[in-house]
Amino acid sequence: LKILVLNGPNLNLLGTREPAVYGHTTLADVEALCRAAATERGAEADCRQSNHEGVLLDWIHAAGVQHRAGALAGIVFNAGAYTHTSVALHDAIKGSGVPVIEVHISNVHAREAFRHHSYISPAAAGIVVGFGIDGYVLAIDGLVRKAKAAKA
Ligand code: DQA
Repeated sequence: LKILVLNGPNLNLLGTREPAVYGHTTLADVEALCRAAATERGAEADCRQSNHEGVLLDWIHAAGVQHRAGALAGIVFNAGAYTHTSVALHDAIKGSGVPVIEVHISNVHAREAFRHHSYISPAAAGIVVGFGIDGYVLAIDGLVRKAKAAKA
């Protein structure tokens, strides 16, 4: 059972970026946490980060091919600020057919109004918001449960 964990723009700065909002944990720590959470559940996490919308699009398209081949359960995706701007990511998720669990470290609904709308949500299979970096673990758990339920 393979899972892709995608982090979008500025998430490479985790640990030093606005620690009051995002905490002190680095992206490397988050990715290690994700790999461990996947392994504990009999799955395998492939973790990637990009600041480039097009790179994220290419990875989602490739994930679609893998998903159709039965080689990928889904994507755990924190799209960062592209969440609030990217029709292209919305379309890529829909077009790929891959189940995507949207993750936000912070509770975006308790923050600025421009963070309240997500282009990812209507294309997502599930959403985890406001649990800090534990949200990635919750999303991996949900995705593995979904994949196992679909197989049963
Ligand atoms: C974020 C929330 C977004 O609004 C913001 O642009 C981010 C991080 C989160 O994880 O809380 O970059 O996705």
